[in-house]
Amino acid sequence: MKNEHDLQQWSSPSPLSCTVNGEEIQLNVPESKRLLAILREDLELSGTKISCEIGRCGACMVMVDGKAVNACLTMAYQCSGKDITTIEGIEGREGLHPVQQAFLDEGGYQCGYCTPGMIVSVTAMLLEQPNPTLEEVEEALSGNLCRCTGYGGIIRAVHRVIEQGRAQP
Ligand code: FES
Ligand code: FES
Repeated sequence: MKNEHDLQQWSSPSPLSCTVNGEEIQLNVPESKRLLAILREDLELSGTKISCEIGRCGACMVMVDGKAVNACLTMAYQCSGKDITTIEGIEGREGLHPVQQAFLDEGGYQCGYCTPGMIVSVTAMLLEQPNPTLEEVEEALSGNLCRCTGYGGIIRAVHRVIEQGRAQP
């Protein structure tokens, strides 16, 4: 059976155009190369983490056209023309995104390895549903695993940012 390295050798590079964190990107990469590798190796965006590499942990979560997706399961050919946002693109010009600030304020992290993926998933959920129910929050985070925190701080952070959204006129 071929491993990913073999597959990359085997599939010849093709042009890829997409937008990453607001910048238009042109690359020449094998169609079988995974978005996770493109981000970390070609674009040096190491905030997107590698862990299970089979779509189970959420450490590699990014937004593609505003939806949370696992970068470890997304191939180069699926990124053509897409608008991709990584954790590095979530912070705004005026500083931390409210979701990032809420994770800081509520201690929604310990080792921090799951944190970029958690923040991407929460941000994508709030883009789609700014006032989610508890079930919708649980569903949005069902693909993100944390081995350290026990989830208490993470859930407090999510509730904090939802409450802030409700308080805005
Ligand atoms: S590394 Fe992609 S889901 Fe775990
Ligand atoms: S803070 Fe360590 S895995 Fe979540």
